[in-house]
Amino acid sequence: MTDAERERGLTQLRSLLDSTRLDREPDHSAGYLDLLGEEAGQPRTPAQRAMRSSLVAAVYQRGWRNGLNVAMGLRGPSAEQERRGAVRALELGGEQRVLDVACGPGNFTHVFAGALTGDGLAVGLDASAPMLARAVGENVVPRVAYLRADARRMPFPDASFDAVCCYAALYLVPEPFTVLVEMLRVLAPGGRIALMTSYRGSWEPQRTVRTVLGWASGVRMFDRDELTGILRASGLVDIQQQLHGVAQFVTARRPP
Ligand SMILES: C[S@@+](CC[C@H](N)C(=O)[O-])C[C@H]1O[C@@H](n2cnc3c(N)ncnc32)[C@H](O)[C@@H]1O
Repeated sequence: MTDAERERGLTQLRSLLDSTRLDREPDHSAGYLDLLGEEAGQPRTPAQRAMRSSLVAAVYQRGWRNGLNVAMGLRGPSAEQERRGAVRALELGGEQRVLDVACGPGNFTHVFAGALTGDGLAVGLDASAPMLARAVGENVVPRVAYLRADARRMPFPDASFDAVCCYAALYLVPEPFTVLVEMLRVLAPGGRIALMTSYRGSWEPQRTVRTVLGWASGVRMFDRDELTGILRASGLVDIQQQLHGVAQFVTARRPP
């Protein structure tokens, strides 16, 4: 990875920004474009606080995700299988633009970039400076660029990405439906969306137990039709949902 390739990613990312949606000039001194500065807001829950911690960012980047999956009783794919599954679900390959919302340390973003060619670009967006410090330290490859921004107010024009994904984050964000609406806004006609988030379950007392554990930790539990319902109401097609323990995987396409 050369400095020129690194610069090229940031230049491409700059060209995607909608200047009317920027509150400040992007700062690139940390190796990613920073639109938040000191304005990131206060974390409201233990889970949100953890994501702002350098220690958690380091541990997460080193594969904590697999352990977390086991701890959550997520009887589904490993983190590596999830990454390959996300590349397939988003139908990546070629000169696409892909947006990884709440990318954390970029564990998925750099894999997405590896599936692209030519002028393709994978953008990892996250609000946490420690997470992005890990991303630019360990997960910079050709065709990747990272952006510090709030997923509830994305700085991109409508329909600017061919693929948009959000894994393991909607359950942490205070307004997950605002994030989802933003993801749909920036998704181009014919583009694919992939989501991985929590699932409340279908029977009692499972639902109540998961809801209480979620409240205690700040992790929101989603019902089966909450996300798919929004996708359907927004006109998306080919909606598919897989349930794995406490997690759900959802994919869909915006019609051309
Ligand atoms: C558990 S990590 C998921 C990382 C990555 N998607 C993965 O699956 O490996 C959740 C991420 O969501 C980010 N996040 C939470 N709220 C956010 C917001 N409003 N805007 C952008 N990122 C946010 C956190 O900073 C954290 O890095």
